[in-house]
Amino acid sequence: MKFFIDTANLAQIKEANDLGILDGVTTNPSLMAKEGIKGTEAIMNHYKTICEMVDGDISAEVLSTTFNEIVEEGKKLAAIHPNIVVKVPMIKEGIKAIKWFTDNGIKTNCTLVFSAGQAILAAKAGATYVSPFIGRIDDSGWDGVQLIAQIVNIYSIQGFKTEVLAASIRNPNHIIQCAEAGADVCTCPLEPILGLLKHPLTDIGLAKFLEDAKKM
Ligand code: E4P
Repeated sequence: MKFFIDTANLAQIKEANDLGILDGVTTNPSLMAKEGIKGTEAIMNHYKTICEMVDGDISAEVLSTTFNEIVEEGKKLAAIHPNIVVKVPMIKEGIKAIKWFTDNGIKTNCTLVFSAGQAILAAKAGATYVSPFIGRIDDSGWDGVQLIAQIVNIYSIQGFKTEVLAASIRNPNHIIQCAEAGADVCTCPLEPILGLLKHPLTDIGLAKFLEDAKKM
């Protein structure tokens, strides 16, 4: 399973990248706004900086909602760097645009996916990635990880090449469950990634070893 970091914060991207386990980055308009990135030039520059920091796929989300505008915006985003993946919402115009990007060799991430039916459409359009939002599904009383397993199973049966990118991750257990469910990618904020490191017996064991090392 590939690890992407789900943030536009450069310090957090650097910290995750320095671990040596990072395969890419996802952003969205909320994450960009959180970092105070405003205006087309600043947005483009921020994506360029991220692409120069991390050697992997970098999702940049379109803000348009009509076919022509999504295509025009996506072409500009894709021109920033070869690693840019154009992130397109799961709407009718978005599916048409994903098909256009697929036919024109531009990678896509179909975002805001909450059902297996939506995931089938994204795959039919040739999306590089499909992003089911598991945390938001859990928040609404459904089972996000179960949706990941269902989509992985459908893609396997049908031979779809689209990669299942588990998004909206809230905690380390989500990451483990997504790995068990067969997700191709997990995109997570820094905290759940660092949470995977933690176990009290590791801390106790290391403290004891370091104490005993003084007697060596
Ligand atoms: C990433 O691609 C998604 O936009 C992101 O994971 C959504 O996460 P949230 O539900 O925590 O906002």
